[in-house]
Amino acid sequence: MAERILIGVAWPYANGSLHVGQIAGAYMPADIFARFHRMNGNEVLMVSGSDQHGTPITVRADQENVDPQTIIDRYHSEFCDNWERLGISFDLFTTTGTQNHKDTVQDIFLTLLEKGFIYPGKQVLPYCRTDERYLPDRYVNGTCPHCGFTQARGDQCDNCSRPLDPVNLIDPLCSLDGTIPDFREREHHFLKLSAFGDQLSKWYEDKSYWRQNVRNFTTNFVEQGLIDRAITRDISWGISVPVEDYDDRRIYVWFEAVIGYLSASKEWAQTQGMPDKWKEFWTETCKSYYFIGKDNIPFHTIIWPAILMGYENLNLPYDVPANEYMNLEGQKISTSRNWAVWLPDYLDSYDPDPLRYYLSATMPETSDSGFSWSGFVERNNNELVGNYGNLVHRVLSLTQRHFDGQCPDPADELDSRSKDLIQLAENCFDSAGGYLGEAHFRMALNENMGLAREVNRYLEEKAPWKTAREDLKETGKTLYTALVVISSLRILMYPFLPFTSQRLHEMMGFDGLVEDIGWQPNSVQVNQQMLPPTPLFQKLDEQGVVERETLRLNQTSQG
Ligand code: MF3
Ligand code: ZN
Repeated sequence: MAERILIGVAWPYANGSLHVGQIAGAYMPADIFARFHRMNGNEVLMVSGSDQHGTPITVRADQENVDPQTIIDRYHSEFCDNWERLGISFDLFTTTGTQNHKDTVQDIFLTLLEKGFIYPGKQVLPYCRTDERYLPDRYVNGTCPHCGFTQARGDQCDNCSRPLDPVNLIDPLCSLDGTIPDFREREHHFLKLSAFGDQLSKWYEDKSYWRQNVRNFTTNFVEQGLIDRAITRDISWGISVPVEDYDDRRIYVWFEAVIGYLSASKEWAQTQGMPDKWKEFWTETCKSYYFIGKDNIPFHTIIWPAILMGYENLNLPYDVPANEYMNLEGQKISTSRNWAVWLPDYLDSYDPDPLRYYLSATMPETSDSGFSWSGFVERNNNELVGNYGNLVHRVLSLTQRHFDGQCPDPADELDSRSKDLIQLAENCFDSAGGYLGEAHFRMALNENMGLAREVNRYLEEKAPWKTAREDLKETGKTLYTALVVISSLRILMYPFLPFTSQRLHEMMGFDGLVEDIGWQPNSVQVNQQMLPPTPLFQKLDEQGVVERETLRLNQTSQG
């Protein structure tokens, strides 16, 4: 039976280009998942948008001496362009700057205020005497009170991922001028997280299917006792606080950004001309999945569910398959040091599917993983070109040469080896499909590549290029079998390699869009006319790529 699936993807700060670590962490898995479910006949709504508030935005604007909006517009349009080119198939990618988002946030704020889940209280805040202003959480550095990491930022610890309050840092210092900030008392509004501890713990009980790291982090965190958090700040860039005398304060970015999932759903419904349709995705019967990096776990497994509980919305996250980090050439990716592979640079130089493939094959699902240019080229050459691409090219070329590009008629019965192979491809819809449904993307890709390898082995055994000389009937059976399995691979690979699958679809003489077929075997027909094949993938020159990209990394990176 068709299901409704809501897919939320982390909202990137619109303060700089995206890098491959973010893509492997959130956007790639979300897109594979969305494409699989759509193909499987489910109704998918995949939303996200540019996060346009928060210190990262204002810092960048200050550096360039321009308005925050200038920065946001630049990167928001770059993001949209990148999604298009990489094939990240959002149903809506909006921003947190819309009137709709502001209305939704203020409505939730006021509803929780009325219910007592948001309340005014005194907050002790870092104040810099040199700059004569309250400091954003991120401008205070110190030692994490939880794990002892000495370079924790006041908003969150980069080592243990816990959200922090600057006042709890040990030895706090202002990152602007290195002075010790004053801590002054100030009225702010608090989210009463402490009221949700029991409800959250109960809710986690049946979440045994969550990834281990997500579950452990979350339950540890909640067991230690939830503390109410201030959700307004002394800043002028952000969503205004809908209470009197708060003109000089704004809603804290983390409280409002997560609400983007709901506001974006509403905006999407508007654009569909069915303004109420978002509701179908925000009821208990709709499963919601959130694809994020591990630093965002607490916001999606604690804060966002607590907000939803307070707001009495029934669609709590079903799963939050957060990924770990992807390192680059053995070092942590760092945007500030410019140690990163930037997505626009990649897309200017290479095709999208090889990156989609590489990031899927090395996705940091259970532990940190690594991007390296030599690894990228090797996987492209050995796996995409060498395994999958060659298979397709061999079979389609032989079909051209010996059967005028028409799918041969296997005539009488296939031997058991051939029948088993076709069966194996059919089974792959269940096995790979099962993994995809559970968000185990590497496993699903392994199944597919294993199938392609198996067809190559079959061809080696049957050697149709040899049999063509004396026994065209036998050759026809072999090619027919291989073509049936390739027809399946075209579909099985679609969530990972959408551009390639569509090309293959057309090359094999199928009409329309591959994504409309459905997640099921869909075989080439006897006598179906195919086009002369062109290679699915390009072999890359390892030395050339590695040299060029290493140079680019070293030239631009600092420190
Ligand atoms: N912009 C934030 C980040 O990149 C938050 C992303 S997820 C959100 O870390 F849902 F909370 F917005
Ligand atoms: Zn820590």
